[in-house]
Amino acid sequence: MGVSIYDEDTPAKYSCEVCSPKSHTDLIQAKAEGRQLWEERKVTHEESITLEKSKSKPAGNGITFPLTDECFHYTKKSQVEWDVQKYWRQRYDIWTRYDEGEGIYMTNDAWFGVTPEPAANKVAADLDGFVEKSKSVVIDIFAGVGGNAIAFALSERWSQVIAIEKDLSTIACGQHNAALYGVADRITWVNDDCFAYMKANASWIDHPKTVIFASPPWGGPGYTSDEIFNLNTMAPYSLNQIYEICKGIDCALFLPRSSDLRQIAKLAPERGERKIEVVTYCMRGAGKALVAYIPAAQTNMKHNELILHT
Ligand SMILES: C[S@@+](CC[C@H](N)C(=O)[O-])C[C@H]1O[C@@H](n2cnc3c(N)ncnc32)[C@H](O)[C@@H]1O
Repeated sequence: MGVSIYDEDTPAKYSCEVCSPKSHTDLIQAKAEGRQLWEERKVTHEESITLEKSKSKPAGNGITFPLTDECFHYTKKSQVEWDVQKYWRQRYDIWTRYDEGEGIYMTNDAWFGVTPEPAANKVAADLDGFVEKSKSVVIDIFAGVGGNAIAFALSERWSQVIAIEKDLSTIACGQHNAALYGVADRITWVNDDCFAYMKANASWIDHPKTVIFASPPWGGPGYTSDEIFNLNTMAPYSLNQIYEICKGIDCALFLPRSSDLRQIAKLAPERGERKIEVVTYCMRGAGKALVAYIPAAQTNMKHNELILHT
């Protein structure tokens, strides 16, 4: 116990090994007031750890990605490449503010995959209903030109919206479009490969507070040719590859409307009460896409359980 065997070391009065009650006045005072000081200190300590973690989050805020010569705001059909014209005709369905200010910017590839604003707003509202209120961070791992990220920011549901996009021209459009919608300061844009990003940042991503949203490429405009879309051969990333980085975190996957539901059902964890919910999103009466809202694996769900909504 550290008590000396020599008499000359023995103090006149033992308190404890290193201090006397005078050293504990705040504890004694707190006990007299019926407070549990050690619990208060624990909370303060945990808050300081959370603050330190948030300080070490990777860069993203404050970085500006300038528009490149692959970013366009088309105002006339004659400017638009033939394979994009079909989508450009629907520009006001996709972006209600298409012509406001400097206008919405898109890359030519982005027209095929952007989530139209009404659908993105509905997904943002549904995601709020699907996850617990304690969730405060949404990571859009395939952010594109910002269709969904902007809707998440506009919903004001999230304290942080992180938008990851690997293509520099595309992320520049997304950031520009977010500014046009007045939410530039509510989105952290990260120019990275989402698989590398999620791996490199695994230590600070707080699973209970985070939701992942993924609208991956579906393999280009020809994806609709299959009656039932095979998510195992989806290119360039299969359903399982994408789900692998979402494991342990609630996630929402934006997939082709004809996706094979049996493949989605296989992602259901073994036991529990929360189910995968699948919602089909329509525009002008036509199904455009579905979103599978998948609870984190540890919430224990019954195998193969799905709830379908349209
Ligand atoms: C279907 S689009 C997303 C559309 C987006 N939801 C929107 O509304 O604008 C898919 C995007 O993922 C990007 N992407 C593809 N692979 C990626 C990766 N490994 N990491 C990050 N972004 C990726 C593509 O460049 C493309 O912009």
